[in-house]
Amino acid sequence: MKFFIDTANLDQIAQAQALGVLDGVTTNPSLMAREGIKGADRIMAHYKAICDLVDDCVSAEVISTDYHGMMREAEMLAAIDPKIVVKIPMLADGIKAIKSLYEMDVRTNCTLIFGAGQALLAAKAGATYVSPFIGRLDDLAIEGIDLIRQLVDIFDVQGFETQVLAASIRSPLHIVQCAEAGAQVATCPLSAIMGLVNHPLTEKGLAQFLADHAKNNG
Ligand code: E4P
Repeated sequence: MKFFIDTANLDQIAQAQALGVLDGVTTNPSLMAREGIKGADRIMAHYKAICDLVDDCVSAEVISTDYHGMMREAEMLAAIDPKIVVKIPMLADGIKAIKSLYEMDVRTNCTLIFGAGQALLAAKAGATYVSPFIGRLDDLAIEGIDLIRQLVDIFDVQGFETQVLAASIRSPLHIVQCAEAGAQVATCPLSAIMGLVNHPLTEKGLAQFLADHAKNNG
């Protein structure tokens, strides 16, 4: 499973990249706003700065909701860097845009997926990734991970190349569940990735090893 980080914060992206396990980045307009990035020029420059930190796959989301607007923005975003993946919201016009971008060899990530039918349409249109938001489903007492399993099965049975990019991940447990369910990618906050490191028995065991070494070596 590929690990993406879900943030527009350059320090966090650099920290995750330094771990050596990062495969990409996802952003959205709310994450860009959280970093105070506003105005077309600053937004474009920020995407470029993110691309310079990582090896590949930086999802940059369009703001338009109509086909022509999405296509205009997609072309501008894709021109920033070959690492850009254009993030398109799940809308009828979004599906049309995904199809056109597929024909132009531009990678896309269809976002705000909450049902299998939506993902099926996006895959049929040629989306590179679909992003089911599991945390937001969990918030409504609907098992988000069940949607990941369902999409992995459908894409497998149907032979789609579209990858399941599990999004809206809230915890290390979510990451492990996504790996078990067969998601090709999980996009996670840095806190959830770092949470995978810790186990109390690891800390206890290491403390014991170091104490024994110190005793034995004076
Ligand atoms: C995915 O690409 C989205 O940016 C993100 O995962 C949304 O997560 P949230 O539900 O925590 O806002």
